[in-house]
Amino acid sequence: MKKFGIVPLLALVASTSSFTIAASTTANADELNLVCSAEQDWCDLMVAAFGAEHDDIDVLMVRKSTGETLAQIRAEAGNPKIDVWWGGTGDPHLIAAEEGLSQPSGVDTSELLGWAQNMSQISEGKTVGIYAGALGIAYNADILKKLNVEPPQCWADLEDPRFFGEIQVANPNSSGTAYTELATFVQLFGEDQAMVKLAAIGKNVNSYTKSGSAPSKAAARGETGVSIGFMHDMVNLAAQGFPLKIVAPCEGTGYEVGAVSIINGAKNEDAAKKWVEFSLRADIQSRGPEVGSFQVPSNSNAKVAPESPDLASIKLIDYDFATYGSSETRKRLLARWDKEVGDPNPQ
Ligand code: G6P
Repeated sequence: MKKFGIVPLLALVASTSSFTIAASTTANADELNLVCSAEQDWCDLMVAAFGAEHDDIDVLMVRKSTGETLAQIRAEAGNPKIDVWWGGTGDPHLIAAEEGLSQPSGVDTSELLGWAQNMSQISEGKTVGIYAGALGIAYNADILKKLNVEPPQCWADLEDPRFFGEIQVANPNSSGTAYTELATFVQLFGEDQAMVKLAAIGKNVNSYTKSGSAPSKAAARGETGVSIGFMHDMVNLAAQGFPLKIVAPCEGTGYEVGAVSIINGAKNEDAAKKWVEFSLRADIQSRGPEVGSFQVPSNSNAKVAPESPDLASIKLIDYDFATYGSSETRKRLLARWDKEVGDPNPQ
């Protein structure tokens, strides 16, 4: 496996929302207001690469978690400040589409894999799939060894009191990763049992974070024994030398289709369309691994990094994006999660 240099700790604890501006030197440049819900390093690389091709467009980018972005887009409906939303799990993108908060981009999706085109079909072209990634469990091998705790193999193991205070996961209200986990449990175990199981796991949770990738970064640093998150984020941390082991849960697991959407009423629609076209290109999607982003790209001609978790070898559920990417389902599941699982210390 390719090794990466250890990134400075500061980069790992980078806040979930920071601004990047790729300023052009051209007078009267167009503007593009972008929310990026992928990892900060990839967001930065994308802005720089887009800027290199479009010196007539100033990109103003902020990184925000998927659920937080959906909340912002809802709050700004009718007078949007965001033009384009790139990255983050697909369900909230589908919900934005259903609620009329995004608009068809009209881009050519013929080079994209079936799971990416599926997002366009469900949303009538309002969102498009850009990458896929499977949900999993990670544990810090040093910590569990020190605690003399047997590593988990299944979701059910996380309910065991041996993990008391050792599990970290995000809050599904703010994080698309954690919403994927919630929807995965419902699809694996049925809605009532999912709540029972998540509440049992909740007894072992030390913190519900805002962003989906934060728990695995905490596990990598040894601040928690176990994390739930996307396997490609865990692979990135393990490749940097952290003692993180990755588990594909024995019951099977869910996955995300990350997406891109143009916001309805975008003030810079042409620039937003250029961004969508750019982000679907094979050469651009092939660049994620340069910054440790190991999702499976949606363009069938993009290079898949050898580090990318092989989705075909993981027991994946047939994730129902139409159902779990609908407003009504998300609202009901989050209300039940708040009541029956709940975050005692919301951030
Ligand atoms: C990380 C992953 C992405 C995922 C995103 C969701 O950045 O690398 O694949 O889409 O998390 O973020 P969120 O904070 O909404 O869970």
